[in-house]
Amino acid sequence: MESQVRIFSNTSSQDLAERIARAYGVELGKRELRRFNDGEMCPVILESIRGDYVFIIQSGFAPADNLLELLLMIDSARRASAHYITAVIPYFGYARQDRKDRPRVPIAAKLIANLLTAAGADRVMTMDLHAPQIQGFFDIPVDHLESTTIFYPYLKELALPNMTFAAPDVGGVNRARMYAMHFNKEMVICDKYRKRPGEVSSMALIGDVTDRNVIIVDDIIDTAQTLCNAAQLIMERGARSVRALITHPVLSGPAYENIDQSMLTEVVVCDTIPLRKKSDKIKVLSADKLFATAIRNMYEHKSITSLFIN
Ligand code: R5P
Repeated sequence: MESQVRIFSNTSSQDLAERIARAYGVELGKRELRRFNDGEMCPVILESIRGDYVFIIQSGFAPADNLLELLLMIDSARRASAHYITAVIPYFGYARQDRKDRPRVPIAAKLIANLLTAAGADRVMTMDLHAPQIQGFFDIPVDHLESTTIFYPYLKELALPNMTFAAPDVGGVNRARMYAMHFNKEMVICDKYRKRPGEVSSMALIGDVTDRNVIIVDDIIDTAQTLCNAAQLIMERGARSVRALITHPVLSGPAYENIDQSMLTEVVVCDTIPLRKKSDKIKVLSADKLFATAIRNMYEHKSITSLFIN
């Protein structure tokens, strides 16, 4: 009998997983999360997946139980004799710890890669890794999807005049350049300095934004400090408007308040992480069709790169 595609969700990515399964044209696989009295998790797959292509969807945002549940689900699928297991991790957490930038710190992204492989994943599918080279932490294939597939059409529809792209920090220069080249526009750079994680100490703007409609592009919005500081600086330097396109809405701590009180016209994000609450300034675009198509192409041994818009 031919192997089937089976899509499963973990607890915290249920909404996105349902959208992906619907876009693919299948029902989500049946599973339940049992717990011991002390909270210990035991995810159970409730139907046979013997010989199947199994896709388990879970983003790696906090709490760490999300990641542990994913590892346990992969182990369940392996022991249930799935033919091929893909961990679909729309937002790959712990990716900001991708190098030893000071003494006595972990390289968490590498540890997570090791754990996923040890649990039994044959492949990882993710989107907009904080640093693309994290793919090299894995010895199994990684399908790295790009949010430009979602954001480029949005910007085309918006059809803003006098558009300029901005990197909110030096690490984001390549991303901003990619947008600027695609739309044949100029770019500027915010030079951000952090004394410690989660705290922006100073920022300077390199480039001219006078009378421009500026689009800040980034992979993660966490406390929104980086973004709001960049937006303020850009407006102070004479921009007409400032918006943001940011893939993963981590949005911790005061993020929602920061955005609501900011000079940003809108912040457009993907649904890789569910929002905690609504905000008039935050618009969510779904990555469902992109992941569904990538799953289909993977299963049918077709190119995934062909999904990207250059
Ligand atoms: C940094 O390298 C990332 O691309 C984001 O700019 C950063 O994680 C955002 O953090 P926050 O929103 O807390 O300033």
